[in-house]
Amino acid sequence: MDLNEQARDILRQNDKGGYTLPTHGLYPYQWNWDSAFAAWGLATFDLARAWDEFDTLMASQWNTGMVPHIIFHAPDPGYFPGPDVWSTGQTPETSGISQPPVAATLARLVWEMDKAQSHERMAAIFPKLVKWHRWWHEVRCTHGPAAITHPWESGRDNCPDWDIGMAGVDGSGVAPYTRRDTGHVDPSMRPSKAEYDRYIAMVQFGVEAGWDQDRIVADGPFLMADPGITFILLRAHEDLAVLGQALNEDVSEIESWARALRNALPLIWNADLKGYDAKNLRTGEFAGVLGSGAFLAYLADAGNPELDEQLLRVWDAVSYGIPSADPQAEIFDPRRYWRGPTWPVVNALMALGLRDSGRADLEARLRAETAELIEKHGFFEYFDPIDATPCGGSNFTWTAAIWLTWAGHDLEQARGAA
Ligand code: SER
Repeated sequence: MDLNEQARDILRQNDKGGYTLPTHGLYPYQWNWDSAFAAWGLATFDLARAWDEFDTLMASQWNTGMVPHIIFHAPDPGYFPGPDVWSTGQTPETSGISQPPVAATLARLVWEMDKAQSHERMAAIFPKLVKWHRWWHEVRCTHGPAAITHPWESGRDNCPDWDIGMAGVDGSGVAPYTRRDTGHVDPSMRPSKAEYDRYIAMVQFGVEAGWDQDRIVADGPFLMADPGITFILLRAHEDLAVLGQALNEDVSEIESWARALRNALPLIWNADLKGYDAKNLRTGEFAGVLGSGAFLAYLADAGNPELDEQLLRVWDAVSYGIPSADPQAEIFDPRRYWRGPTWPVVNALMALGLRDSGRADLEARLRAETAELIEKHGFFEYFDPIDATPCGGSNFTWTAAIWLTWAGHDLEQARGAA
């Protein structure tokens, strides 16, 4: 079976009817940014189903505007921490944090595939996206750049960016629990127990605070500025404004959020590091590590010559795509979740920015390297960027999606023309 057909099959197999799992076993629910990528991939062969995916995601929106990071549609004992641990009291049950807001950017790309057929479906989710972006602006951007209250909110769970913030979290009082992730994939490719203890402690703080987000931002155990979400949100604000203009909406409020966020970028520029950097907002301290969060700057057209130098340095140090952490730093761990591996889905986001800013050579290189990983080993969650070892979950929705929309795109066109 050719890779395009395999990718479509994975999306169909992970389809639970209206929403898509990231992969069976390891991630048995609907995840926020995974779902938006699923929609992008689905749109290549089933436009209506793509919009259904955005609908089920946005239907989980809290009254506050937050769109949660996991939607627990149906109980599954194979995942920890489940809805009983998060205990948010929402219907459907959800987690209590958000996740990278890629939905507006990907909804714009889906809408652009067929504007006429998409018009009503896009118009239906537009007000919800605006409400969610307002939540980001008012609740998470109070310090300027976008902040996260839990490493999982970044989507880049255990990347070294969060180490300084995690050091201040006490995980010692967490009651005994059984992890499920390490029963599905090799534990050496997953976060450590010390990290999990802290993740759960942060969830417990949220439960005790009744998931009052103002209190969590003010007093929670963890608050860090995330370059990755900052760039994703900045790009998404701009894409949302384009969608609003197509609907003849007044987009001045959205444009003001984008302006404020762009003006805040100097606050996450670490001149010593020569790159964008995560910052502990409790102490003002920079993380001092370069990783994929910083390089998402290209998605928001926020690159500069110094960052270009860093990008090429870390990229040239590996063979396959942009690594999630600096290969020349001590913390680099090429197969452990976000501490070194390359993620096809993050490469796709960076490539969108590189393409839009006219860096066709870099975009083509990134596409070729990402495609090679998938051609060699299949649709894995992430890969060792040095030797291409496939890591994490297999038959992964977002890897299949970015194959159909980006990594295998030219290949598909070439085959179509042949
Ligand atoms: N990625 C997290 C997990 O590994 C949660 O979002 O379960």
